[in-house]
Amino acid sequence: LSKLASLGVMAVSPPAISRAARLLREGHLVAFPTETVYGLGADAQNEEAVKKLYEAKGRPLNHPVIVHLPSLDAISEWCMNIPDQAWVLANAFWPGPLTLVLRKSEKAKHFITGGQDTVAVRVPSHPIALALLKEFDGGIVAPSANRFGKLSPTRAEHVASDFGDSIALVLDGGPCQIGIESTIVNLSSGQPEILRPGMITADQIAQKLGISGLDLAPKTKPTVHVPGDLPSHYAPETPLCVVPHSELLDLVKNSAALKYAVLAFDDQPETLSAYRWLKGSNNPKRYAEALYATLRTLDQAGADRILIEAVPTASEWQGIADRLERATQK
Ligand code: TXA
Ligand code: MG
Repeated sequence: LSKLASLGVMAVSPPAISRAARLLREGHLVAFPTETVYGLGADAQNEEAVKKLYEAKGRPLNHPVIVHLPSLDAISEWCMNIPDQAWVLANAFWPGPLTLVLRKSEKAKHFITGGQDTVAVRVPSHPIALALLKEFDGGIVAPSANRFGKLSPTRAEHVASDFGDSIALVLDGGPCQIGIESTIVNLSSGQPEILRPGMITADQIAQKLGISGLDLAPKTKPTVHVPGDLPSHYAPETPLCVVPHSELLDLVKNSAALKYAVLAFDDQPETLSAYRWLKGSNNPKRYAEALYATLRTLDQAGADRILIEAVPTASEWQGIADRLERATQK
């Protein structure tokens, strides 16, 4: 807690929001909660501030960031050639955990798009994020507030543990409710495609667009750059494997040499001794909400390996399955 206090973590009141907006205007970095994960924010039009953001995260400059906006109409400023499908999805899911990739306008500069002519935009639903965006009255670029390649933060303490005191302010909104990053849909290429699955599912999106969910799978390698594709993105330090239920029990049973930290759907069998055993919810929403904090706990257990029981293949689990896959050491 003393670390948070010295970092300037603020329980959120109207003056805290004003201070955060002022710091952003002055070119500083501010971390704030969204409904998905905490974001590390910078003024989307301030090149120096955005540079500082990339440096703080250790993120390569060609990896584009998401512009967070206070309202749906603002996409007309940041994007052009906006297809009807974008308005359909925006009306259905914003504010909320959905990001749209669209053709960028003049206003969206190359230093936020990784040099591409598309831009990612989203209107978050978290009341603190929305209040900050309204007060700032502009676009805030906000990647997840973690160092590049590390687990995303879903608690203010996670942000503090990654960044020490290099951020001007962390707004503390408690735990994030969604728990994994937004679903990203590319609408810039004529054929809608899901670039990153999330808790708004392919089926929900397909239904709104009046197409089949399968049509949303990227047909080829995505034409746009998604750094989440890199090996060991979102990875804990401890090697992690995802295994089916049956294999999991056998692995733990036969492990004389290795200490396992486990995340499974059932309680630990009494006959089985694992180093650490945590239980995941059968409800995908609750599983996702807890996921990154749980992975941090498993990572800090001092085990040799993290074993995660594979999750169901249904649409509501696809975002979770994707993050578990990315957390696997390649
Ligand atoms: O839930 C979220 O989306 C969180 C919260 C803070 O809003 N933000 C987040 O940002 O996850 P970040 O930077 O960690 O991930 C942004 C993703 C990256 O995978 C990036 O490649 C993709 O968005 N992206 C951004 N601009 C893009 C573009 N023009 N084309 C394709 N992908 C893009
Ligand atoms: Mg991220």
